[in-house]
Amino acid sequence: MGKRVTTQVSAEEIAQQYKYIEILRDYNQARISRLGRPVKYNIETFGCQMNENDSERLSGMLSEMGYSESAKRTDSDLIIFNTCCVRENAEQKVYGHLGALKKLKENNHELVIAICGCMMQQPEVVEHIRKVYKHVDIVFGTHNLYKFPELLNTAVENKGTVIDVWDSTGSIAENMPITRKESLKAWVTVMYGCNNFCSYCIVPYVRGRERSRDIEEIRNEVVKLAQEGCREITLLGQNVNSYGKDLEGEYSFAGLLRELDRLDGIERIRFMTSHPKDLSEELIYAVRDCKKVCGHLHLPVQAGSSKILEKMNRKYSKEQYLDLVEKVRKHIPDISLSTDIIVGFPGETEEDFAETLDVVAKARFDMAYTFLYSKRTGTPAAKAPDQIPEEVKKERFDRLLALQNHVSRDINDRLLGKEVEVLVEGLSKSSKTTYTGRTRENKIVNFKGSPQLVGSLVRVKIDTVQTWSLLGKLV
Ligand code: 5AD
Ligand code: SF4
Repeated sequence: MGKRVTTQVSAEEIAQQYKYIEILRDYNQARISRLGRPVKYNIETFGCQMNENDSERLSGMLSEMGYSESAKRTDSDLIIFNTCCVRENAEQKVYGHLGALKKLKENNHELVIAICGCMMQQPEVVEHIRKVYKHVDIVFGTHNLYKFPELLNTAVENKGTVIDVWDSTGSIAENMPITRKESLKAWVTVMYGCNNFCSYCIVPYVRGRERSRDIEEIRNEVVKLAQEGCREITLLGQNVNSYGKDLEGEYSFAGLLRELDRLDGIERIRFMTSHPKDLSEELIYAVRDCKKVCGHLHLPVQAGSSKILEKMNRKYSKEQYLDLVEKVRKHIPDISLSTDIIVGFPGETEEDFAETLDVVAKARFDMAYTFLYSKRTGTPAAKAPDQIPEEVKKERFDRLLALQNHVSRDINDRLLGKEVEVLVEGLSKSSKTTYTGRTRENKIVNFKGSPQLVGSLVRVKIDTVQTWSLLGKLV
């Protein structure tokens, strides 16, 4: 069997979307003069950075169509929810917000409501929205985001509900507009989808199989970002270590890092997420050798017990994970590690949970994103008979958090009196003179500074340590 090769959406199809953008721009210009005010959009993004990046694409298309962004839903002419379905509470939030939009629509019949993202890739969700939330105008999924101009045009012309969700795609759409939230830091998606099918996870069902972007496209995007003043990029993918496996030719994620490290202008390169089973030595060496690649690895462990890891279909044991951490630390002693941990996976006993605590104590993560296991219909784990009661999950969760906070604080304590390199991002939220930025290891540092420092690298000596951030003085 030959390898499956990822293709790009044809130039004609992309050009077609630009035509719809133009049609809508004319339409909006007429509306702007008729109404005597700008036409506005509001996007609410749920979930991960991949969704944030997708919303930036929608913003790009919308600003080309003549829409201005609004922070408020109440004064918007177009409202988009970009949804997440990785855990149930993310879905519940969407339904709550969606219900509240009904009133807005009753008061403004010209309001267009669109909903997209991972939740829409589940047929039962689309059916539910169609039946219960009749005020929704456009429903689309993760695979046809680039067709949004066409869908919006259809909705505006026909005034009926437009539903267009694709099961999968082997293609990637390049060269669509993008408007980024931040100018100093940018997300750059390098691959889409996931082939791993961890038994609890819905992502492979809603984001499809792994597809890598062409290396030239990624390089061009990063060069352009650097020219626009961006200083830090974060490469995104559900499993970046698989990068290139679906491309014609010999590509690897380590190779991509080395390639991007050579580009001028960008100061820092980050990436996420790495699956422990695929973390190659080649990648460890690339992180060690590349000057711009930050010494920070997000390496989700998910659980500590080898029995649970097997049930999760993670394809590594507790010992293999800890060995990997040791190997990474041997080559990159200052590396900062973050992780994801799920508490209360079906069948998790108190002994299994103790193994998770043991991994946290031994691996000494700088930071852990901790989650209560959430049953996702359609995944194998949802059918497991031994689901854990909510109160048991919560109690374990609290114990895990307490231990992780202790470890994080302990790691930060060791930075007291040390000098760190900080990329200055701007004023901190609560002050007019305190500036904030991050170290290469991704720690937040606050210090007294001045506006001209924003966007530059400075050295700060740490004099106060907190669990989540550090305070210091410019040196
Ligand atoms: N329940 C709880 N957490 C989950 N994650 C993925 N699926 C589930 C689920 N069903 C977590 C994993 C993953 C992160 C993005 O979300 O820890 O790494
Ligand atoms: Fe989900 Fe596992 Fe893929 Fe991550 S690697 S997206 S947890 S299936």
